[in-house]
Amino acid sequence: MKKADRIYYGGDYNPDQWGDAVIDEDMRLFQKAGINLLTLPVFSWARLEPDEGVYCFDWLDRIIDKIWEHGIYVCLATPTTAQPAWLSTRYPEVLPVDIAGRRRTHGMRVFFCVNSLKYRERAAAIATEMAIRYAHHPALAMWHVSNEYGTYCYCPNCQAKFRVWLKRRYGTVEELNNRWHTTFWGRIVSDFEEVTLPTELNDDYRFNPAIQLDYMRFVTDSTAECFVNEYQVLKSYNPDIPIQTNMSGYIKKLDQFTLTKNLDIVGWDNYPWPDDPPYFVAMKHDIMRGLKGGQSFILTEQSPNQQNWQPYNLLKRPGEVRRLSYQAMAHGADTCLFFQMRQSIGGQEKFHGAIISHSGRDDTRVFRESMELGKELAAIGDAFLEGRTPAKVGMLFDWNNWWALELASGPSRDMDYLKTFSLYYKTMYSQNIAVDVLRFGADLTGYEIIVAPMLYMTKEGVAEQLTEFVEKGGTVVTTVMSGLADENDRCIFGAYPGKLKEMLGIWVEETDALRPYEKNVMKLTDSLVLPEKEYECGFLCDIIHAEDAQVLAAYGEDFYAGGPCVTVNEYGQGKAYYIGTQPEQDFLEELMKVIVKDSGIKPLYPAEAGMELTRRVSEKGDVVFAINHNKHTSWVDFGEEQLINLMNGEVLTGKVRLAAGDVLVCGKK
Ligand code: GLA
Ligand code: ZN
Repeated sequence: MKKADRIYYGGDYNPDQWGDAVIDEDMRLFQKAGINLLTLPVFSWARLEPDEGVYCFDWLDRIIDKIWEHGIYVCLATPTTAQPAWLSTRYPEVLPVDIAGRRRTHGMRVFFCVNSLKYRERAAAIATEMAIRYAHHPALAMWHVSNEYGTYCYCPNCQAKFRVWLKRRYGTVEELNNRWHTTFWGRIVSDFEEVTLPTELNDDYRFNPAIQLDYMRFVTDSTAECFVNEYQVLKSYNPDIPIQTNMSGYIKKLDQFTLTKNLDIVGWDNYPWPDDPPYFVAMKHDIMRGLKGGQSFILTEQSPNQQNWQPYNLLKRPGEVRRLSYQAMAHGADTCLFFQMRQSIGGQEKFHGAIISHSGRDDTRVFRESMELGKELAAIGDAFLEGRTPAKVGMLFDWNNWWALELASGPSRDMDYLKTFSLYYKTMYSQNIAVDVLRFGADLTGYEIIVAPMLYMTKEGVAEQLTEFVEKGGTVVTTVMSGLADENDRCIFGAYPGKLKEMLGIWVEETDALRPYEKNVMKLTDSLVLPEKEYECGFLCDIIHAEDAQVLAAYGEDFYAGGPCVTVNEYGQGKAYYIGTQPEQDFLEELMKVIVKDSGIKPLYPAEAGMELTRRVSEKGDVVFAINHNKHTSWVDFGEEQLINLMNGEVLTGKVRLAAGDVLVCGKK
C-alpha cells in the first residue's frame, strides 16, 4: 500500500461543499499542517451522476489534479453510500424496508438495500466511471468503497434471497427445521418459501435466536457481496491499488471477519466516547488488527476535536488527539486519518470537529496541534509501516458468538460480550503484554496462552482445537457461559461446558444470575496465593462440579457456598482454567499475572501503571511505542537497551521519564 515514504496523514475532504477560493486556501493549510492524503468524494454521487448514466466529473478531475499539484495523495471513495434522489425515486426497490415493514423514503445516507440489483448495477456503473478516470492517476494511493456499511433490510427481495441462502446452507427443509429446532413453538416449515425474515410483524421482538442469527449472517454475506460488487470493478482497472472500506466504530451488527475477507486492508473509524478507558480503545484496535490475521490496518477516521452526535460533545483536550493517534499506530494502524478536514457550514454535522474550523484560521489550538502532529509523523517516516506485533497471548473473539450470547433470553439481561472480553483484555493490557485477537478456528501455533471469555458457541472445531492446544502444553482460560451451544445456537445435551468439559475437568450444573446490587464472595483455596484471601464476584455464578480439576476458589455465600467458582485442570502437558463467575477486576488482574508468569511471558518493559507499551516489527525496523495515560510524569525502564527517539533522534536507555500524556515512538538500535 506504500506510495508515500511516510504515514498517510489527513482524511475526509468534501470540496464540493465550497468554491475555488476556499479550496485554494485549503491547499495552503494542508501543506502547512503536513497533510499528505485526502479522502474524497465520499458523499458526492448526486454531483457526479446528476441523472442516470449522465456523468459530471470535471469538477472532481480539477480538484484531484490540484491536490496532486500540492504533493498530496488521494484515497478515492466510491460515493455509493449516498445514492442520488433520482435513483431512489425511479427505482424505489433500492430503498430499505425497516423491521416494522415500512419502506423508507429517500433522504439518509447508508440507506439502501444491499441486495437491490438496481443499486448494485448503478453502484458498479459509477465505480467503473471512477476507475476509468482515476485508476492510474499518480495521486491515487488507495480506494475506499462506500462508507460505514450497516443497513439491515427486510424487503421482499431480501426475503427471497434469504430463502435461497438458507437452501444453499442447509440443503433440505428437514435440515433447516432440525438446525432451527422449529419443533419449539411449532415453527416447522414445509418449504423454504414459508420462511419469513424475523421482523416485528412476526416475531414481536421475541426473536427465535437461531433464525435471527442466520439472518444476521445473511446480512453480513449480502453486505460483503455488495462490497465485492465494487471491489471487482476497481481491481480490474488497476490491481496494484489497495481497496478498503471504513467500518463503523460500532462494530456489532456485521461479522467483520467475514466482511473483511475480500478486501485488501481493514479500515475502521475510531470514535471513542469520553469515558472509554484507554484499554477499551486499545482492544478495539487489536480486534481490527486481528481481522486479517495481524495485518496492519488503516485508521480511516477519528475526530480532530469534539464530535457532534454524542449527548455531550467534550472538546478533545490538548494532546488527546495526538495520544489517540499514536495509540492507533501502536496497535497496528498505518495511517492517521480524520473526519474531517474542513468543517461543514450546514447539515447534521456542522458542529463536528475539523482540522479547519468555521473560523478558517490556522492559529487555532486544533490546527496548531495538527501541524505539530504532521511534523512528528514526517520525522518518523515509514519506520513501522506494515509492522507486525509479536504476541504470545491470543484472545478468541467471534461475532456469531457475540450475537448468540446477547440474543439469548436469559440467564441475565446484562449479557455483554464485548465488555466481558474487555475485562480479560485489560488484564494483559495493564501488564503491557501484547494480545492477538483471533477468530474461532484460527491457527494457535506460537501462542502460549489462549483466553476465550464466554466461549458460548463451540463451532468450527474450536473446542477440539483448544483441547489439543492444552494437551500439547498450552494454557487456556475460559469462563462462565462457555461451551453451551452449537453454531445454530442449539444447546448441547450432556452437561456444560459441553465439548470443553474434558479439558477443563469440570461440569456445570446450574448458573445463578445475580441482580446488579447482589454480590457473592470468592474464597481462595491454598492452591492459589494472591494478595487477598477473598474477592467479590457477581453477575453470574456457575454451580460447578470439579471432577479432575483443582479448585482455586470457592463461593463464600448462598446455597452453593463452598462450591468451586475458579478451577484449573492439568490436562496433557498444559493447563485449562475455568472462571465460573464475574470476579472483581483485582482478582482477574492478579490471577492473570500468575498465569502469565507461569507461562514465562514477560511485559514488554517494566513500567509504571498507566504507561501503555507496544511494539511493531517490520522489515524496516523494530519500533516501540510508549504512551503515558497518567496525569503525572511516569517511567518506563528500557534497561540496557538503547533506543532512538524517532521524533528527534535522541538516544534513550535505562529508566526514561515521560511527561503526563506524552508519547514516545522509538526504534531499537
Ligand atoms: C462516521 C462517518 C463520517 C462522519 C463521522 C462523524 O464515521 O463515516 O461520514 O459522519 O462518522 O463522526
Ligand atoms: Zn432489501
